[in-house]
Amino acid sequence: MKIVYIVGSLAKESLNRGLAKALVAASPEGVEFVEAPINELPVYNRDFDGDFPKAALDLKAVIESADGVVFITPEHNRMYSAALANALEWSSRPWGSMSLFGKPVATIGTSPSGVGTASAQQHLRTTLAFFNTKIMGQPEGYIDANKAGLTPAGELNEGGRKIIEDFVGAFVDYVKANS
Ligand SMILES: Cc1cc2nc3c(=O)[nH]c(=O)nc-3n(C[C@H](O)[C@H](O)[C@H](O)COP(=O)(O)O)c2cc1C
Repeated sequence: MKIVYIVGSLAKESLNRGLAKALVAASPEGVEFVEAPINELPVYNRDFDGDFPKAALDLKAVIESADGVVFITPEHNRMYSAALANALEWSSRPWGSMSLFGKPVATIGTSPSGVGTASAQQHLRTTLAFFNTKIMGQPEGYIDANKAGLTPAGELNEGGRKIIEDFVGAFVDYVKANS
């Protein structure tokens, strides 16, 4: 099984990248986690539609090769990040070629607050539904970085590790049942 993940933060010391590391570390045998990088993408505009840059073609190809996709998002002003919105725009174009169409997907994210990116993920699910994706509803992945002991290196306390292991296990089962 190939699970592609996208990290919605471009920051060097990103907690969400730490969360991605923790997810990869929790992946069971036989499951390959592959990142779809978004840091080289220019800002999308439709003038590119006839001639996509390599970074965008690569993004679309890796998403299309996935059995399932996990979105790891920060929360910016109660929304998912502009970097992630940009990647989603590239993935959805040119017209008629939504790379995420029909894929099993999950959302998770972290912020150093009790909100745990819940609002950002709710917005993200609205966009993902537009692509006809199959969105895992449970378990929810609203990770309070302080409570989970999460660091940008991907360290977690015991409680945090259990949440991440359960999340990864549930998504692997969900992808099996929905692909
Ligand atoms: C522009 C901006 C807006 C933010 N808005 C929120 C927010 O709405 N809710 C929240 O919990 N944290 C918010 N934060 C704090 C981020 O969640 C925090 O910086 C987090 O570490 C970002 O994830 P990252 O480390 O992966 O970049 C915001 C941060 C920035 C830079």
